[in-house]
Amino acid sequence: MAEPLLSVRALARRFYGVRALAGADFDVAAGTITALIGPNGAGKTTAFQCISGVVPPEGGRILFAGAEITGWPAERISRAGLVRTFQVARGIPRLSVLENLLLYAPDQPGERIWAALIGAGRKAERRARERAIAIARRLDLLSLANQPAGALSGGQKKLLEIGRALMAEPRLVLLDEPIAGVNPALAERIASHLESLKNEGLTFLVIEHHMDMIARLCDPVIVMAGGRTLMIGSFAEVAADSAVQEAYLGRPN
Ligand SMILES: Nc1ncnc2c1ncn2[C@@H]1O[C@H](COP(=O)(O)OP(=O)(O)OP(=O)(O)O)[C@@H](O)[C@H]1O
Ligand SMILES: [Mg+2]
Repeated sequence: MAEPLLSVRALARRFYGVRALAGADFDVAAGTITALIGPNGAGKTTAFQCISGVVPPEGGRILFAGAEITGWPAERISRAGLVRTFQVARGIPRLSVLENLLLYAPDQPGERIWAALIGAGRKAERRARERAIAIARRLDLLSLANQPAGALSGGQKKLLEIGRALMAEPRLVLLDEPIAGVNPALAERIASHLESLKNEGLTFLVIEHHMDMIARLCDPVIVMAGGRTLMIGSFAEVAADSAVQEAYLGRPN
């Protein structure tokens, strides 16, 4: 079997004595939309924080595309092709959709200065702009490209958040609740965008609470509870598992 794109081993992290992660283990295979589910407080977002380098883990290892990235700063991880979106969409409300995308163009200051010196700066800027426009078109945001991001609906902000991640030319995207609070029609559109991006070779690890979306989109499904991995399987397998059912019933959503 091919090596997983991402491997997480014995990941541990406390916050003021609260064990957010108590030894989580899981893999993400390339070309999948893998779900990360579990009751509130299971440690899902904390796992994303550690994997993306926002918060350093206190224990465990993270391997991405054959490299050990444990403890790398977020910027370096994102340059390596692993990016994430946030549970609460970020972005600068007063800037336009296009400007918000351009903020996240791969940006290596050293190279940029060099490029400017040899007169290639404008070309790099033009390429970033072309990429931003292609992504906006791809996500059906092109007609809104010059609108301030703050004027977008909740679902459109989620799409912009995905677009922002795509600007980094990633191999793996971690999505934290990409359809939370989004109306069903737009949620459906976001789901089909993810599906077609997957078909083009992108890999996703998705935290979601909407079971119908997980059932339709995600395979396999990783279930976390109490900072640990409880089970990994197909949606049907985890949904039928009594330990999984108990974890949810014990702390209802
Ligand atoms: N920055 C922080 N400071 C203090 N405690 C934190 C912090 N981040 C997470 N925690 C705690 O760690 C535990 C795991 O939280 P986490 O946000 O990872 O859960 P989650 O699975 O994403 O939950 P949800 O489904 O509600 O988003 C919780 O008890 C939470 O209160
Ligand atoms: Mg969370």
